[in-house]
Amino acid sequence: MSKYIERFSTSERVLHWIVTVSFFTLLLTGLGLYSTLFHGYFTLFGGGQNAILIHKISGILFFLSSLYMYFNHKNDVSTFDQDDKEWVKAKGGYLSRDASHFNIGKYNPGQKLFAIFIAAATLVLGMTGIFIWSPTAFPRWIVQLSLMTHGLIFVCSIMFVVVHVYLATIGNPGTIEAMLYGDVRSLWAKRHHPKWYKEVTEEKP
Ligand code: HEM
Repeated sequence: MSKYIERFSTSERVLHWIVTVSFFTLLLTGLGLYSTLFHGYFTLFGGGQNAILIHKISGILFFLSSLYMYFNHKNDVSTFDQDDKEWVKAKGGYLSRDASHFNIGKYNPGQKLFAIFIAAATLVLGMTGIFIWSPTAFPRWIVQLSLMTHGLIFVCSIMFVVVHVYLATIGNPGTIEAMLYGDVRSLWAKRHHPKWYKEVTEEKP
């Protein structure tokens, strides 16, 4: 039995980190646009005008890379089988003291829902962003509604991303190796994604 198995190719990892860097750039440049409380962040980008320009450029980068990432693994994240339903019924075992064993494929339902949410949020943020970008070209109510929706969806995205980062790092040791090096330990794969492990190794976990 090999000690490591491949989880993500180099291009998949590069794509994920482009999404991540553009997401956090949007966060830092966007905060100052919402409140004077965060104007301090503008100095990181050489002033307000530069921050707005960088927000627009990283917005386009995030929109394209995030949707590309979704369509790249759409088959793995958009279908839910009976084993996934068991996971949902038991809330992933997170609220239980007993050791739980689920027959999970490449992603668990929580990861699938996160990926679907991020894709939907990307679409909404992109569309509302266009209305905010050229406010004089659209009716005032559309621009105001867009501003509200843009902020709301971004706040939700941040909350989910915080949970995602926790679960991908200290919450589940060994997971970050997948995105850093492309390979994961066989024991990690057997424990967290036994069905996927079986598929890629043809070995019964
Ligand atoms: C420092 C920040 C981040 C870290 C450390 C991180 C880490 C990871 C890791 C380790 C995986 C692979 C999980 C696995 O193999 O089971 C992953 C997957 C993924 N990441 Fe991230 N990520 C970060 C930021 C983001 C951001 C900002 C987004 C989107 C806005 C994102 C979206 C995704 C998606 C959609 C997946 C696939 C589904 C999933 O595993 O939940 N990540 N990430």
